[in-house]
Amino acid sequence: MDLLLSLYAVGAFASAASLPKLRMRVELSRAKQRSLLGHSRLAQRLAAFVPFYEYDETRFFRTDNAPEEIAERRRDGFIRLAAVYRERYANTLALTAEVEPAISDLQFTSAYRVPFQFSRFVRRHLSAGGFAASSEGVTLTDIDGNRCYDLTGSYGVNVFGNDFYKECIERGSALVRDLGPVLGAYHPVVAYNVGRLREISGLPEVSFHMSGTEAVMQAVRLARYHTGRSHVVRFCGAYHGWWGDVQPGIGNPVPARETYTLKDCDPRALRVLATRRDIACVLVNPLQALHPNAGAPSDSSLLNSGRRAAFDREAYTAWLEELRAVCTARGIALIFDEVFMGFRLSPGGAQQYFGVRADMVTYGKTLGGGLPVGVVCGRSDLMKRFRDDQPANICFARGTFNAHPYVMGAMHEFLRRLETPEIQALYADLDDVWNRRARDLNERLAAEQVPVRFANLSTVWTTCYTLPSRYNWMLQYYLRAEGLALSWVGTGRLIFSLNYTEADFAAVADRVVAAARAMQRDGWWWHDGSLSDKGISRRVLREMIARRLNRDGDR
Ligand SMILES: Cc1ncc(COP(=O)(O)O)c(C=O)c1O
Repeated sequence: MDLLLSLYAVGAFASAASLPKLRMRVELSRAKQRSLLGHSRLAQRLAAFVPFYEYDETRFFRTDNAPEEIAERRRDGFIRLAAVYRERYANTLALTAEVEPAISDLQFTSAYRVPFQFSRFVRRHLSAGGFAASSEGVTLTDIDGNRCYDLTGSYGVNVFGNDFYKECIERGSALVRDLGPVLGAYHPVVAYNVGRLREISGLPEVSFHMSGTEAVMQAVRLARYHTGRSHVVRFCGAYHGWWGDVQPGIGNPVPARETYTLKDCDPRALRVLATRRDIACVLVNPLQALHPNAGAPSDSSLLNSGRRAAFDREAYTAWLEELRAVCTARGIALIFDEVFMGFRLSPGGAQQYFGVRADMVTYGKTLGGGLPVGVVCGRSDLMKRFRDDQPANICFARGTFNAHPYVMGAMHEFLRRLETPEIQALYADLDDVWNRRARDLNERLAAEQVPVRFANLSTVWTTCYTLPSRYNWMLQYYLRAEGLALSWVGTGRLIFSLNYTEADFAAVADRVVAAARAMQRDGWWWHDGSLSDKGISRRVLREMIARRLNRDGDR
């Protein structure tokens, strides 16, 4: 009996001791976004079960069970568009066909422009190729001589217009020419760059890297080194480069075991930060303010019209303030990853725009003045790479091309010109200008009764669709035919440079309206009132299961 009692006592003690652990585990689960994006490992496992299948030519035009007459209209429109592409992009297509088998990146980006079930057919007929010959003003010209408005934004690099970066590279190169490609010793322009970066970031130390991905790697490594903690927190959907630890889910073949992916803008995430002891740092990509908890809005995942986006500056500022407070209280390094948004919202970046200070900030893209770069700015106690009292305990980071003279020269020009009145003027009324442009265009689209609307975070725009449809991704091809160049992500991300004048923007707006009208006319947005986004998702799921079971999907 005594033995039994003492066993009970030990059991009760053990479970009492494990209770806090259990509670933290539950809290962690509750702080995850419910979708697969919030459950990286599950997503990775499920990805292996998605079978390839594609629609044959008949099915391609009727996946929503549209009447035959609508399918015919779509087919006619598609054939017309394909003829335009074939003729207009002849040289570009020939060169692309020649090199694509040898460039894996090109194969990937051309395959993932639209949902995979449609991809091969679309690629065969609607490719605009992968080459460009020149840029001027806010336009790009391809190797066939076609000029189009540049909405690619060069992945976010292009904040001030391509000509600006050409000048940064030219003048920067002239500045460092005498030293040339010498590495190891810094060119003196580095002193100016460091000074300006300290002012801009409000942080005393700087390190130079070769890409945004590397800057993020270094910031996280330093946070782990100084806090002695293992885990990095990222928010659901946020991109921080392609390093494994910050890209847990699909795309990374191994699990990221020391990464927590938490729900963005959610008090349950704050609770996890306030209670766990293993968190070294929190990464924030301010671009997520446009679509918290959603990944990059690529058209390849545009299965239906479920894409949502809306920027609420006040709410996001309040969220950052809460994050700041909990990180301070818990000794967690708050890292703003401004590789994408830095210098786009304000000259002082997202820190200045939202009025919240981080412990470390990563920059990249535009800061290189057109050349590749990554930068970490941080508190001195977080940036130090060795310990005075433990000489063997270091935090290593190097990189052959770090602080390359030509990159430093172009960065010098970028930072110098950032201070000029012409560039400062571009920031005046920036939000008002771009919010008005988005609002006006949305009003026009509403008046045209086309199911397209734009959400924007300043100059970064996302296309949303107001009517359930399986064909929204077709819009990118109609836009291109109207002379608007998008990145391979498609309609999910339009990036304007700040030098778009009212006239430039008006031309783009006219073309967007023309493209949407043409797509409407060709029947792609046919709707009988019964199609719903959920219905579309269920149908696609049924097709996948049927394919998995080796049967044809229901029609
Ligand atoms: C927020 C953010 N962080 C990091 C990166 C990675 O930068 P890079 O492509 O220069 O490695 C990106 C790239 O898009 C980014 O948007």
